[in-house]
Amino acid sequence: MNIAILCSGNGTNLQAIIDSVNKGYIPAKIALVLSDEKKAFALERANKAGIETITLDKKDYKEREDFDREIVKRLKKRNVELVVLAGFMRLLSPYFVKEYRDRIINIHPALLPSFKGPHGIKDALERGVKVTGVTVHFVDENLDNGPIILQKTVEIKEGDTEETLLERVHEEEHRIYPEAIKLFVEGKIRIDGRKVSIKS
Ligand code: GRF
Repeated sequence: MNIAILCSGNGTNLQAIIDSVNKGYIPAKIALVLSDEKKAFALERANKAGIETITLDKKDYKEREDFDREIVKRLKKRNVELVVLAGFMRLLSPYFVKEYRDRIINIHPALLPSFKGPHGIKDALERGVKVTGVTVHFVDENLDNGPIILQKTVEIKEGDTEETLLERVHEEEHRIYPEAIKLFVEGKIRIDGRKVSIKS
């Protein structure tokens, strides 16, 4: 199966996925890494791994949907069957979601449906919860809203800062994102409304 990974930043999740593919843990090919930021370190990681990269600049597109149409065109050209968002800081248009319905996944640094949005770690810390975590979910038309595939908890410790918590959240992300992708690629995930069941 061909997969594509969309990133905007550092790409530590991308790296974990690349490593998992290279080890044979995920039986798929990363056909493309696409970024909306030409300076994203994720692009360097992909280049180093010999993966094709594309950068698209939103300034070149009038509407969000035009941008997404361009992405979808590139994905289809490469027969991409699974779209993995890994720190991609753009909301997908309904057009994109429709074209890849139930085949787009995202990772969020909190236990959804708590702390949606771009500051999941900061928001959990500020709210004073004792346990937060990581969620892998399908992407639908609404932000951080689609059916949940996997979740893992991360304890918030006395004296945690955004940096120390981020580090432990990332450790968990780098474990469960490859796991979720593997399950998808092996056809073990079934969606029934908002519920996801996993075949053993
Ligand atoms: C991750 O924390 C992920 O949960 C969120 O964006 C961050 C991306 O980090 N969606 P990286 O670029 O994979 O290091």
